[in-house]
Amino acid sequence: MNAMVRPRYAPALRRLHWLMALLLLVTYVLIEQRGLFPRGSAGRAAMMQGHFWGGIALFVLAWWRLASRKRNGAPPITPPLGWFSATVAKTVHVLLYAFFIVMPVLGIMTAWSDDKQVLVPFTSIALPALLPADKALAHSLEDLHGAIGTAFYWVIGLHILAALWHHRIRRDDTLKRML
Ligand code: HEM
Ligand code: HEM
Repeated sequence: MNAMVRPRYAPALRRLHWLMALLLLVTYVLIEQRGLFPRGSAGRAAMMQGHFWGGIALFVLAWWRLASRKRNGAPPITPPLGWFSATVAKTVHVLLYAFFIVMPVLGIMTAWSDDKQVLVPFTSIALPALLPADKALAHSLEDLHGAIGTAFYWVIGLHILAALWHHRIRRDDTLKRML
């Protein structure tokens, strides 16, 4: 096939894929490194709010991306995948999209039930909490939010390894379609 017409994901989908991967990295780093600042410090609060808004932005972008994906579809892979690889790939992609929706919802529910304010960036105005403070609920939600966050290091790792496997070992155009 002529390289000029090789099928790729729609430009919006490619941009959103890499933008969201970067934003997810920042969202993870902000929460995992929050221990750099002591509890109650301005630095710690900024990292927490950054984590909140990184997650909220991912939630919004995920819906935009899903709508664009529905409109544009995905380009074919050459040579085509077997039934098994295609099913594993599809399952992982559905899980990743679900992650972008479920994690922010659990996160904001954790914040509200833990009586933590989600502030409009660069202001001291808090979003109205839609859940009452409830420490027991907050602990359960935080455990679940954290456990899914940790489990997805593996899913995301698998996704990245698969992309490299396609490119370097199987030598198909899976990765090029996303560049
Ligand atoms: C895709 C989006 C998100 C990811 C991947 C994510 C991931 C994580 C991870 C890995 C932790 C650390 C758990 C631990 O150290 O045990 C965490 C904690 C937390 N996250 Fe998120 N999160 C996301 C979105 C959000 C959002 C949107 C909010 C709130 C608006 C939020 C609020 C929280 C809270 C309150 C904690 C507990 C932090 C603490 O008490 O020190 N998260 N998150
Ligand atoms: C170095 C990092 C990454 C590489 C090399 C990479 C590579 C790719 C490639 C090649 C595809 C196309 C797969 C196909 O059509 O079968 C893809 C799709 C996808 N990637 Fe990534 N990715 C990376 C990071 C991430 C991260 C961090 C996430 C989210 C957690 C993510 C979420 C997705 C999703 C949801 C799709 C499905 C797109 C669709 O069909 O609508 N990727 N990625």
